[in-house]
Amino acid sequence: MNIFFLVSTLFLIVSVSNGTLAPEQGKKSKKQEKVKKSGPVDKDAYQRSLVKRDIKVKDILREAGLHSKDTKSRRFTAGDVLGYITPWNSEGYENANKFHGKFDMVSPVWFTIKSQDLLKISTHDIQKQWLHDMKAADNENHTVKIVPRILFEGWSSDDIIELYSNIKKRDKLIKALCDLAQAYQFDGYVLEIWNQFIFSGIKKKLIISLINTIADGLRIKDLDIILAVPPQKGMDKELFPKKAFDLLAPHIRYFSLMTYDYSSVQNPGPNAPIDWIKTCVENLVPDSKDIKRAQILMGLNFYGYHYTSTGGGAIINSQYLKLLENFKGKIQWDDKSNEHFFEVKHNEGGYVFFPTLYSIMSRLDLATELKIGISVWELGQGLKYFFDLL
Ligand SMILES: *[C@@H]1O[C@H](CO)[C@@H](O)[C@H](O)[C@H]1NC(C)=O
Repeated sequence: MNIFFLVSTLFLIVSVSNGTLAPEQGKKSKKQEKVKKSGPVDKDAYQRSLVKRDIKVKDILREAGLHSKDTKSRRFTAGDVLGYITPWNSEGYENANKFHGKFDMVSPVWFTIKSQDLLKISTHDIQKQWLHDMKAADNENHTVKIVPRILFEGWSSDDIIELYSNIKKRDKLIKALCDLAQAYQFDGYVLEIWNQFIFSGIKKKLIISLINTIADGLRIKDLDIILAVPPQKGMDKELFPKKAFDLLAPHIRYFSLMTYDYSSVQNPGPNAPIDWIKTCVENLVPDSKDIKRAQILMGLNFYGYHYTSTGGGAIINSQYLKLLENFKGKIQWDDKSNEHFFEVKHNEGGYVFFPTLYSIMSRLDLATELKIGISVWELGQGLKYFFDLL
């Protein structure tokens, strides 16, 4: 099955099918009104025989909201597990708490640092009750580190050079982050800084040195620093080459490797082809015996895409289920990317790529093979039974 061909013919198909299917739009499906089953069940997704290549739409619709009542034991044990949470998909907070035992780190996407005002880090997104609940679920056998993400936004090249050369300013930033961590008992931070700084045109060497100094300053206070880094895109000069990894690795605890968004609205297709993920990891740490492998957290998307003739975009759990409710055909498996997809025949049509139990399992198997951890983007976007696999 060549999905690239399929997707490239999308525009033609959509323009034809739109007209013939238009009358369907007014009908309201009975299924849509049915309350979906949710909550804990005795058996996990494996025991319910749901982790397989040939999947049926009705099975997904019936089972996706259910999860094993055993929310504590782990299946994936090859490396550390980080889960992101965004304030705009608040189901992530609930899932982080419910599946507390399956995570080593949770990163709520809460903070932004702008160059103009290093000390004014807005705290309005912090969920105090949730923080309290997460700490309360810690016990002598298992704790989850809270490592909020910090986005460096709107930095010009002058701003970056200023931060690099002005030690006072840099210390101010480090102190502000340490104080914030102390006030809320954070265990570290995910720094979303690489992509933001690299496009300023400033030399990588300078940016690496700057990040290392910040990381060292935070490490003294026992804070774990995780650096979000882009995957390889097949360019002459990769955004995040092995050399950068090697220079940062002694200072950075983990690298959250964003192995998703391989395709795009401009170039539709699978979200994270499995061979590409493997290459991304191997390019950074080629030797499988190198212990630095364990510092890599392979990005695992819990969201998908719906590509349409007018573009489309990323979709999350509820949007995916809605598309499935109106879908009559068969979900297909692409052997090349190891992803399921289907062609939408109603409304605006298009193609849908969304993770399934089987596609996630094959990626967790890959992480086990490579001896790396995982980072899930993000906990509020997937289907409940995905958590049975972690
Ligand atoms: C921690 O692990 C020990 C040994 O497996 C067990 O006996 C104990 O109940 C566990 N504690 C909690 C709070 O789960």
